[in-house]
Amino acid sequence: MIKNAYKYIFMLLYRFVYWVVKGVSIDSLINQNSTKENFEHFKESFKTSVLFRRTWEIRRFAIESAIQNDFDGELYYLELGVWKGSSSNFFSKYVKKIYAFDSFEGLREDWIGYFMEKGHFNLNKKIPKLNSNVEPIVGFVQDTLDDFLKHNSPIINFVHLDMDTYPSTKYALERLKPFLNKGAIIIFDELYNYAGWEFGEYKALKEVFREDEYIFKAFNTLGHQVVIQIK
Ligand SMILES: C[S@@+](CC[C@H](N)C(=O)[O-])C[C@H]1O[C@@H](n2cnc3c(N)ncnc32)[C@H](O)[C@@H]1O
Repeated sequence: MIKNAYKYIFMLLYRFVYWVVKGVSIDSLINQNSTKENFEHFKESFKTSVLFRRTWEIRRFAIESAIQNDFDGELYYLELGVWKGSSSNFFSKYVKKIYAFDSFEGLREDWIGYFMEKGHFNLNKKIPKLNSNVEPIVGFVQDTLDDFLKHNSPIINFVHLDMDTYPSTKYALERLKPFLNKGAIIIFDELYNYAGWEFGEYKALKEVFREDEYIFKAFNTLGHQVVIQIK
């Protein structure tokens, strides 16, 4: 009984010390800074966008917004970064077909400014269970995307970009840009609101598109997703 009481007190003390130390750690300061930076950077865009607090809500909004712009159902829907397929399967419920690009070998490069390294999300090339209207395109996009675009000459209406790192996202945006429909929706899974945001998907967006080529349409204020619409 007394032993248990000591254990309990020790656990409370441990939690308290952890809480105090965490409050002044590099980790927490990095996160606090990125929150402030992002608020300052995007505060005007928040006023003209739809705000969400849940990932699945902003994803639903993104795909529904895209569909509104697809009058004969002939446009293309793409996801880059599939992993175990949960987002591909989600989007697939709204469209006739979605092309899902992934190497299934994890991140192609270290995620600079964040806490993940090359190979994170590796599934050893095993393709996950995907709905029948999800067509996997297997390989690094640097090796698959050009062929896909050349072969299909697609008019692309929707892209879910979820490869996390700057080099892969920039490569994809550069290649996809000429094929985007007017009004196409791009949902970025990690555009902002995390440590290193300026050096990830956001940097790729800024380098490939001028600010007058798109509008911000939605933000997840408790997550990292941002939806843009091509003008
Ligand atoms: C964060 S996961 C995707 C998660 C998924 N969209 C979801 O919400 O469940 C990132 C995925 O991107 C893939 N990936 C990263 N860089 C890639 C590249 N250059 N080419 C193809 N796939 C890549 C990884 O293999 C990994 O499966």
